[in-house]
Amino acid sequence: MPKKVLIDCDPGIDDALALALAHGSPELDVVGVTTVAGNVGLPHTTNNALCLADFYGMDVPIAAGAGRPLVREALTAGDVHGGNGLGGVVLPAATARAIDGHAVDRIVDELAAAPGEISLVAIGPLTNIALAVRKEPRIVEWAREFVVMGGSYTRGNRNPAAEFNVLADPEAAAVAFDAGWRTTMVGLDLTAQARATAEVRERFGALGRLEAELLSPILDFYAQHRQYRAEGPAVHDACAVAHVLDPGLLSTVPARVDVETHGRFTSGMTVTDFDAPAERCNADVATVLDTGAFWNRVLTAFERVAAELPE
Ligand code: BDR
Ligand code: CA
Repeated sequence: MPKKVLIDCDPGIDDALALALAHGSPELDVVGVTTVAGNVGLPHTTNNALCLADFYGMDVPIAAGAGRPLVREALTAGDVHGGNGLGGVVLPAATARAIDGHAVDRIVDELAAAPGEISLVAIGPLTNIALAVRKEPRIVEWAREFVVMGGSYTRGNRNPAAEFNVLADPEAAAVAFDAGWRTTMVGLDLTAQARATAEVRERFGALGRLEAELLSPILDFYAQHRQYRAEGPAVHDACAVAHVLDPGLLSTVPARVDVETHGRFTSGMTVTDFDAPAERCNADVATVLDTGAFWNRVLTAFERVAAELPE
């Protein structure tokens, strides 16, 4: 039986790769995709999710969610992902529309309908997740697991202290980490090990339209960012999906994670205490990626997606 997964995202170049990894992995059954404002505004993240699903041949309900953080002004990342969120790549117009209803209700309803079965994976700012926890606290018991791409225990990417998804809505991230479930934090320390290097990209060369029309142009754009020029772009969000796919790909260490919401220079920091007593630990923090096995998984999944694309 494939593992059910619900993906909350803000596509986003690495979100696009994460969706392809999920769709191309028969071990996973993507039961829903929800969108949130993040890398770009909600109209773009939702449209991108719809277009990507069409392009991949992914038949999945997509629900739009929060259009701004809980209390702060919107923070976007157009410099990393382009003004449209996909590095300027314009996919064919989506044939489907987002389903009626709010992403927060979709998250609650999906988890309520299948308690213990669905892995909830958040790869954008945590606004929808926080609102869902507030609306129905029992989702923390119903989720099979909660996996976040966000945070770091050494340094940030948007500033020295904070990673983008947490910095974009620290109040929401604090709610999510404090909710009472065990969060798997797939942060920058882990995702920096997943670089789309020239060798990796060479392996994408045989992926036909998937490579020519999407992977190549989005990764070319992504690779230009100053943070990625030296070692290649990190495919952050795909690492969170990979963990659900195969928990053996990532090593994790138990820790207490608190989100700084007040610091003048450190707001959005995930303060990670690896020495916390077991009863205070609220997270398993990813530390080491089996890089070779990860890229093998990604390539295999992408081959499946590519094979299904019409000529
Ligand atoms: C995270 O921020 C976004 O820009 C990416 O899509 C990823 O989810 C990395 O910090
Ligand atoms: Ca993202």
